[in-house]
Amino acid sequence: MNDKQKVAVHAAQLIQNDMIVGLGTGSTANYFIEELARKQQQSLHVQCVASSIISTIKAQELGLPVVSIEHISRLDIYVDGADEVTNDKILLKGRGYDLVKEKLLAKASDKFLVLVDKTKLVSYIGQNYPIPVEVMPFAWKLVLASIEKVGGQAQLRANSAGDGLAISSHGSLVLDARFPDTIGASELNHVLSSIPGVVEHGIFESLATTVFVADNGHITEM
Ligand code: 5RP
Repeated sequence: MNDKQKVAVHAAQLIQNDMIVGLGTGSTANYFIEELARKQQQSLHVQCVASSIISTIKAQELGLPVVSIEHISRLDIYVDGADEVTNDKILLKGRGYDLVKEKLLAKASDKFLVLVDKTKLVSYIGQNYPIPVEVMPFAWKLVLASIEKVGGQAQLRANSAGDGLAISSHGSLVLDARFPDTIGASELNHVLSSIPGVVEHGIFESLATTVFVADNGHITEM
């Protein structure tokens, strides 16, 4: 079992009967979905809500009941991976295309469990990845100008073939932004949330309840 799988299996042990469980997106979240489905076959009863179409499909294929996000006003627990995690549990997410739903579920959940291996631990947000900023398509140039005004740089994300632009599940364009490391994550969170035309961005502050970190098969809790 690799570290991502190990931490996912660990988190699945915390799921109790009749919970509404939010399913994240990505390889670690996939391991969690698989383990949840396995537990359901052994008589665990849950309802799921997924942060992406891909996770919905995976969960349904494995027999998990999935309700649409439009039908819930809260959930018990949301379980997802992250791209970066700081000591104070600020996260960077959204390397995929689903960060709007991911943040909605993280916010609406009583508990948000974050599952990472130790490669995701960083001393500042933006250390390893640019910060994804989802923008309304017509607003991208004005948002870019606002980012540059505070010392950042950004470029529109290309699609995987490299012959067009990436479109998020929400229908937005994505600016991948870098900032000088002198601007802290809290300040960036505030700055990005205040720019008109920004739909959502990848800094998740004050949302994670617990971060489980796997390191060579050992799990620690932040
Ligand atoms: C997608 C995410 C993922 O949780 C993040 O990219 C981690 O992915 P993985 O578990 O595959 O390393 O935020 O938007």
